[in-house]
Amino acid sequence: MTASEDRQRDLIATLDFHVAAGVDLMLDEEPHDRFAEVDAPPRPAARVAEPAPEPIAPPRRELPPRGEAPSPARTFGQSAAARPEAAAGDARARAKDVTSLEDLEKLLAGFDGCPLKFTAKNLVFADGNPASKLMFIGEAPGADEDRVGKPFMGRSGKLLDRMMAAIGLDRTSAYIANVVPWRPPGNRNPTPQEVTICKPFIERQIELADPDIIVCVGGLSTQAITGTKDGILKTRGRFYPYRVGDREIRVLATLHPAYLLRQPLQKRLAWRDFRTLRAALDGKAQGG
Ligand code: URA
Repeated sequence: MTASEDRQRDLIATLDFHVAAGVDLMLDEEPHDRFAEVDAPPRPAARVAEPAPEPIAPPRRELPPRGEAPSPARTFGQSAAARPEAAAGDARARAKDVTSLEDLEKLLAGFDGCPLKFTAKNLVFADGNPASKLMFIGEAPGADEDRVGKPFMGRSGKLLDRMMAAIGLDRTSAYIANVVPWRPPGNRNPTPQEVTICKPFIERQIELADPDIIVCVGGLSTQAITGTKDGILKTRGRFYPYRVGDREIRVLATLHPAYLLRQPLQKRLAWRDFRTLRAALDGKAQGG
């Protein structure tokens, strides 16, 4: 093998390593330490990965050639990452004025304050029936959802559909959204900063959909919506109050289907949660 073939083999091995580690798109020629840009930055944990390997997604937008100024949208997105409270304030001010789910979706499509928008292919706003009194809220889209533009389309989504079907529900009888509507690259968890920026939108989405019951799917969603710091194994199966003006919506926490795909024995706990949900929908006291 020549030296150049040797080098080529090493480069391919390095790329394979990055893809296996979840680095599936390139944003710039030099690495950036985004976590050094904010105070007390927590590192994002790897999201409970779906077992199936994901296709490699190309970047949605072309990067500017080296040395050329980045577009204003990219600049705003990056500075917003460093000032999530300011971006969240902007998001809240804009979301407040919107009076329909359609307009909220349009608003989100034009919102440049969350850097995830610039790596995602599509906005993943919602699926299901917005008139339903039941709303499921997941964490953030994965590769399948990013490709299709709808939540819970991959293996997790198929399992969620089966869990819903087990208590007589389907996508015509529930409305489905995520806390963060853009896919975090490499299927990582959204950072706390990204959640802070996107939260005003999901809060407005809840207000406009006006459900009686919300099911938070997974720990991140439960923490973002209820404000609890407890982990999902503690919060699952319990109802939390969520106030919208003088109205109280009941929030039930349950395990994420991606976790259940990796820990199938835990499906018995999720089954209990779904029976609790069925009882609540039927107006009965919660079963165990
Ligand atoms: N996981 C989520 O939390 N949401 C989706 O839409 C897909 C996977």
